[in-house]
Amino acid sequence: MADKIKIALVGAGMMANRVHYPSLVEFEDVELVGLCDIVEEKLHQTADKFGIERRFTDYKRMIEETDPQAIYVLMPPYQLFDIVVHSLDCKLHVFIEKPPAVTLDQIRQLAHRAEDNLCLTMVGFNRRFIPLLRKCRDMVFEHAGSPHQVVSTFYKWHDPPRPYYNGAVDILTSDAIHAVDAMRWMAAAEVKDLAAVVRNHGQRLALSWNALCHFENDCVGVVLANWRTGARTHQFEMHADGISVFCNPDYDAIIHRDGAERVEVITTQEAAGSDQNYKYYGFWGENRHFVDSIKNHQEPETCFSDAVKTMELVDRILHSSL
Ligand SMILES: NC(=O)c1ccc[n+]([C@@H]2O[C@H](COP(=O)([O-])OP(=O)(O)OC[C@H]3O[C@@H](n4cnc5c(N)ncnc54)[C@H](O)[C@@H]3O)[C@@H](O)[C@H]2O)c1
Repeated sequence: MADKIKIALVGAGMMANRVHYPSLVEFEDVELVGLCDIVEEKLHQTADKFGIERRFTDYKRMIEETDPQAIYVLMPPYQLFDIVVHSLDCKLHVFIEKPPAVTLDQIRQLAHRAEDNLCLTMVGFNRRFIPLLRKCRDMVFEHAGSPHQVVSTFYKWHDPPRPYYNGAVDILTSDAIHAVDAMRWMAAAEVKDLAAVVRNHGQRLALSWNALCHFENDCVGVVLANWRTGARTHQFEMHADGISVFCNPDYDAIIHRDGAERVEVITTQEAAGSDQNYKYYGFWGENRHFVDSIKNHQEPETCFSDAVKTMELVDRILHSSL
């Protein structure tokens, strides 16, 4: 196919192998021109698995020799920055995982650099691409316009309660950020006022983050994230006049309409048309969105400048604790 998008890949780690490369190899309009990892064993195992011929341990050489249009940089947040800056300076469109950076200032700088270099960018806030959650959001908007109340919860049992990456980045920024980003997206507006409580649960790092937010469109949003609970559960609510949605994208969504007793139930597999986690949990969809955005010359929904707003909200939660 003449118009294949040429993509180079940095990182042969967990997310690359489990969700991103399995998605990309399914796209007929994509050519994976090279893979780079500094650990040779992982490089060759991953390249063999996804049929990638050209292999590198130096990402600058890979960019020079394969001449891609876009690049995936999939690695922990504290290892990202220099590679992303170089890629943007090479005028490549860039996909990265969440979080987009270790600090708010870093993602602001990356967003400016992308703008200066006319690059399209995307952060893997995959919750927005979960087929079930997207369907629920569309149903609310179709029924009553934007929601007037949203709730985003994310719970884990993180034991022992160690910092992530030896403390290179806090857990809200690194992981619970999904709940913050999803709340912004469900509310379809930016936060005007907020009150937050961040707690340590007697440990030497923050382990729960709770915020009540008033959005510019008058929607009220609640984010409840806690890493000292029973187990991982991640759920979302959207309410608007005459409609309420309770969505657990690992299982299903329950939709209530106009006070009726009968409820509608949609499973996550039904909504995705697949029982594969990388499809029903939004990874396939976000990768498709990135490729389509490049083809259509459009900024992806979760571009760096949008991620700045999520990181701003994360910062406000961390610094506004009551
Ligand atoms: N969206 C989600 O639900 C979700 C879930 C888990 C993790 N993540 C995010 O995914 C990101 C990646 O996490 P992971 O667990 O896949 O990482 P990982 O540690 O498994 O993989 C990173 C890879 O990058 C390689 N690497 C490091 N520096 C390099 C360099 N300079 N050049 C080439 N290769 C280099 C490492 O050798 C490793 O193979 C993290 O930011 C994490 O927060 C997202």
